[in-house]
Amino acid sequence: MIVIRGATTIERDCKEEISKSVKELLDEIFSLNALKKEEVRVFVFSLTSDIHSYHPAKAAREAGYDFAPLFAAIEPDIDGGLKLCIRLMLFIEREAEGVTPKHVYLKEAKKLRKDLSSVYNIALDGPAGSGKSTIAKILAKDYNILYLDTGAMYRACALKALRMGISPKNRDAVEKLLPILDVKVEYRDGKQHTILDGEDVSLSIRENAVSMAASDISAHLAVRQKMVEMQREIAKSMSCVLDGRDIGSAVLPNAKFKFFITADSEVRAERRYKELVERGETVEFEKLHAEIVARDKQDSEREFSPLVCAKDAVVIDTSALNIDEVIQAIKAHIQAKI
Ligand code: DC
Repeated sequence: MIVIRGATTIERDCKEEISKSVKELLDEIFSLNALKKEEVRVFVFSLTSDIHSYHPAKAAREAGYDFAPLFAAIEPDIDGGLKLCIRLMLFIEREAEGVTPKHVYLKEAKKLRKDLSSVYNIALDGPAGSGKSTIAKILAKDYNILYLDTGAMYRACALKALRMGISPKNRDAVEKLLPILDVKVEYRDGKQHTILDGEDVSLSIRENAVSMAASDISAHLAVRQKMVEMQREIAKSMSCVLDGRDIGSAVLPNAKFKFFITADSEVRAERRYKELVERGETVEFEKLHAEIVARDKQDSEREFSPLVCAKDAVVIDTSALNIDEVIQAIKAHIQAKI
């Protein structure tokens, strides 16, 4: 069972205001969470004791939300508490794993959850295989924010070049490709899907052959400009955790939280090796290690936005830490800065 929370306020205690606000709150929760009727088990409303004119459960039913039991109760009157406030707990059941409920706080109720209402970003940079993406996914889920895998965007550019028989190193040919390069990121069931020319390429871009090509293509200024523009656009409208190479140093230099995640190259190669073998790819460990070292060198030495640790980033070496220890360390830094 998953609980989605929401709250809103009304300006005056009257039927019209209650009906309008309840509908607005439910519409927003349903659209943001892509909710289906059959997933909903029960709607539980509560309202502050200064609301008398109409029943929020009745308003919900009239707005078409009549496919699950509805209940409403009056909250105790607390000194200094929010006035004219309607809250909701929506109990749902979903089969897909890793679903992150998106809670919705509207109007004056935004004050109840400052953590949800203000946009903030967490930048995670570091070399290949340092654990950034695993960490980013956990943080995004725990903080109920978006995870943007920026490496996937460069991988999609590389895949396009490879498919068209263009060398990702060939700057002129790559620049000619850019006007027809159609890369998008979409979110389904809380997971990022990378779309190239309308096709979901989330799996193909993970192939080992694409890794070095992504590093090659990401060195071109025009490619970076196009990708960075998309990344900034996404990060400005919603709170996200972004992983990449240049997030804290170039894409979002004002990100509230910045971390540089690193690990010994042998440890990183071992992690990638396991990942690729689990996916059914045949790889040689020594070759993979050499590729990772070469990719780090290329990413760190390129002219435009190289892989660097931003001056104000917290460095976390994950070589000898397990994932829980890394998450704890990161959360402790975030907590100290809030
Ligand atoms: O994180 P990854 O392995 O999926 O990234 C693939 C390549 O993309 C990486 O070698 C360098 C490039 N990249 C980049 O230049 N800037 C980013 N923000 C993310 C990735």
